[in-house]
Amino acid sequence: MKRRVTILGSTGSIGRQALDVARAHPDRFEIVGLSASSNAELLLSQAAEFRPEYLALENGQASNLDGTAAEIITGPGAARRLAEVPADVVLNGIVGFAGLAATVAALRAGNVLALANKESLVVGGEWVNSLAGDNPIIPVDSEHSAIFQCLESRRNDEISEILVTASGGPFFEFEEERLVEVGPEDALKHPTWQMGRKVTIDSATMMNKGLEVIEAHHLFGVSYDDVRVVVHRQSVVHGGVLLRDGSAILHAALPDMRLPIAYGMLYPERVDVGAKPVGFGDATWTFHEPRNDVFRCLPLAVEAGRAGGAHPVVLNAVNEVAVQAFLDHQINFPRIAGVIEEVLERVPENGNMDSMEAIEAMDHWARGEAERLTAEVAAR
Ligand SMILES: NC(=O)c1ccc[n+]([C@@H]2O[C@H](COP(=O)([O-])OP(=O)(O)OC[C@H]3O[C@@H](n4cnc5c(N)ncnc54)[C@H](OP(=O)(O)O)[C@@H]3O)[C@@H](O)[C@H]2O)c1
Repeated sequence: MKRRVTILGSTGSIGRQALDVARAHPDRFEIVGLSASSNAELLLSQAAEFRPEYLALENGQASNLDGTAAEIITGPGAARRLAEVPADVVLNGIVGFAGLAATVAALRAGNVLALANKESLVVGGEWVNSLAGDNPIIPVDSEHSAIFQCLESRRNDEISEILVTASGGPFFEFEEERLVEVGPEDALKHPTWQMGRKVTIDSATMMNKGLEVIEAHHLFGVSYDDVRVVVHRQSVVHGGVLLRDGSAILHAALPDMRLPIAYGMLYPERVDVGAKPVGFGDATWTFHEPRNDVFRCLPLAVEAGRAGGAHPVVLNAVNEVAVQAFLDHQINFPRIAGVIEEVLERVPENGNMDSMEAIEAMDHWARGEAERLTAEVAAR
C-alpha cells in the first residue's frame, strides 16, 4: 500500500530530503501536496516529477505556478489549507513560527503529523498536544525520532531520564572572547549537519537544543528535570532513554536526516534510504556537559519552558528576530542571547496560550520588542 503524504516546506532542506526518500521508493509513497513560501520555480519542478494533487505557495500568485496540472492554493494561509487536505501523513518541514498554523490545521483535520517544525510545539505546547488527541505526533527531529524509537515498548516506570544529544555547533571549543568576532558565514558552517540557515544558527547558539528540550517535554510528557542534554561532537548518538536500573538505551546513526524523515513518513515501517551504516572500527564517541555559562540560549530556553505560558512563545519569536538580525550583520553573535534575555525579563503576562489568537498576539508583541532592541544596537 502506498502512503499518501503531504510535504509542507518541500523546497527546504527537510522537504527536499523527504522527496529524496519518496523518489527512492515510488512504490511506497504517493504525494498528495507540496508547499513552499516563495520558491515557485523549485516547487514547479518538484510537481513535474512527483505529480501531486495540490501545490501551495504562501507568498506568490497562481500565475507563478503556470503549467502544472495540480490544484493551486496561493496566498497567506496556503500551507495551512493544504495541511487540512486528507492524507495518511502530513510532514511539516516549514521553518519557524510560520509552521504553527499548518500544524494546528493538520491535527484538527485528523491527519497524522510528522513534525520537523519544532517551533510549533515550542509555542503551542499543551494546546497543540491536546489537538493531537489520540493521534501521536511523529517526531522528525533526529533527537526526538531517536528517543521515540528508544521509548517504544518501554513502561513509564522504567524510565528515569530522556537524553538529548547536541553537536555543540561550530564554536563549542571557542574561548568566550572569540565569539564577538564570529560572523554568519562562520556560524553557517555546521560541523556535522547540512540544514537550513535558521536551524544552523540555532545550532551554533545552542538555542536549537533549548527548543528541543521544550519539544521533548511536550512530545514525551517528561518534566524539565528529566531531560538531560549532553554535547556529542560526532552526532552519531542522537538520543536515548536512561532507565531506573542505571542502564541506558541509545539510538545511533550517522548524521543523515533522511533516516528520521523516512521513519516519520512511514512509521512504524522502515525503508532503506541509502544511509551509511554506523561504523565501529576506529570510532570514538565523546560526551561533554554543555557550556551553559557561555552559550546562554540553552539555559534561557529551559527556563522559559519551565515558566510556560507566554514565555516559550516570546523566546521563540525573539530568537527568530535576533537570528535574522545576526544573519543581516545587525548584531553580533553573543547579542542573540542578550536580546532574548532582555525581552524574556519583560513578558507582560503569563496568560494561557491556548488559541491561535493568543499565541499570535504574544508572538507579535515579542517581535516588536526584539526588533526595537536589534535596531538600537544597529544604530550605535
Ligand atoms: N534541516 C534539517 O536538517 C533539520 C533537522 C531537524 C529539524 N529541522 C527543523 O525543520 C524545520 C525546517 O527546517 P529546514 O532546515 O528544512 O528549513 P529551510 O531549509 O529554511 O526550509 C524551510 C521551508 O519552509 C518554507 N517556508 C518558509 N517560510 C514559510 C512561510 N512563512 N510559510 C510557508 N512556508 C514557509 C520554505 O519555502 P521557500 O523555499 O519558498 O522559502 C521552505 O520550503 C525547522 O523547524 C527546523 O528546525 C530541520
